[in-house]
Amino acid sequence: MNASIQAAMGAAQPRKGADQPPVLVYDNVRKLYGDFVALNGVSLQVNKGEVMCLIGPSGSGKSTLLRCTNALETLNGGRVLLDGVPLPTKESEVRKVRQRMGMVFQSFELFPHKTALDNVAMGPITVLGMPESEARARAMKLLEKVGLASKAQNYPANLSGGQQQRVAIARALAMEPEVMLFDEPTSALDPETVGEVLNVMKKLAQEGMTMIVVTHEMSFAQRVANWVVVFENGAIMEEGPPAQIFDNPTVARTRDFLGHLGWNG
Ligand SMILES: Nc1ncnc2c1ncn2[C@@H]1O[C@H](COP(=O)(O)OP(=O)(O)OP(=O)(O)O)[C@@H](O)[C@H]1O
Ligand SMILES: [Mg+2]
Repeated sequence: MNASIQAAMGAAQPRKGADQPPVLVYDNVRKLYGDFVALNGVSLQVNKGEVMCLIGPSGSGKSTLLRCTNALETLNGGRVLLDGVPLPTKESEVRKVRQRMGMVFQSFELFPHKTALDNVAMGPITVLGMPESEARARAMKLLEKVGLASKAQNYPANLSGGQQQRVAIARALAMEPEVMLFDEPTSALDPETVGEVLNVMKKLAQEGMTMIVVTHEMSFAQRVANWVVVFENGAIMEEGPPAQIFDNPTVARTRDFLGHLGWNG
């Protein structure tokens, strides 16, 4: 089949989850820091089961968008809707909404004085009021899932960066979130441990978890994302399926950005 027919067929494929109401909708979101415009009217949607990768230059607003997603920031305009309902502003309601989203940062932010198991079990115990034995059983299952059952009793200082990040993912999953938000989860890792974290994320994606992933790992975005959004200066420069963004970008600056990263498909 020639490439243009293949591309046309690809383009005709419906976007994943398009048959259901979107999980997240960003409607003309604006965020200012002083008079600096960090997000300049971003409109976007995330469907159920989608893996959306956010890429773009440093300072383009990717982390800000994640922070607006779990109400860590107050908007200066527009709305973010979770399951069709605008994010609340009241602190007690904000906390409930945050429980529905798991967040994984570049810095793992585990509690250093707690074992891997206790780091994972802590949220269910303190936030959900789950009995300790049940929470520990859940935590153990999640450590197994991320390949760290044998490290359950290790303290973070005695885990590699990749292992710590996998504990952080298990900890986020322990709250049974509807959406997982990842902000450059592998940027602080030694190269040899990046793969183990990306594999855990890939497995989650295959299980149908809805995920937003800010990443500089272009090959992950190409292989695992079903939707890629390119940011520039607080706005969306281009969005589309990975085949479009990486192989056939419609915006010349997308190509420039990927070229600067050394991306050549
Ligand atoms: N709390 C803040 N106060 C002032 N300016 C901020 C604040 N947080 C972010 N900014 C600015 O907003 C812009 C967007 O920042 P953001 O962290 O979203 O970028 P990013 O795309 O995640 O970049 P990177 O790839 O470097 O992480 C940047 O210019 C940043 O300096
Ligand atoms: Mg960032």
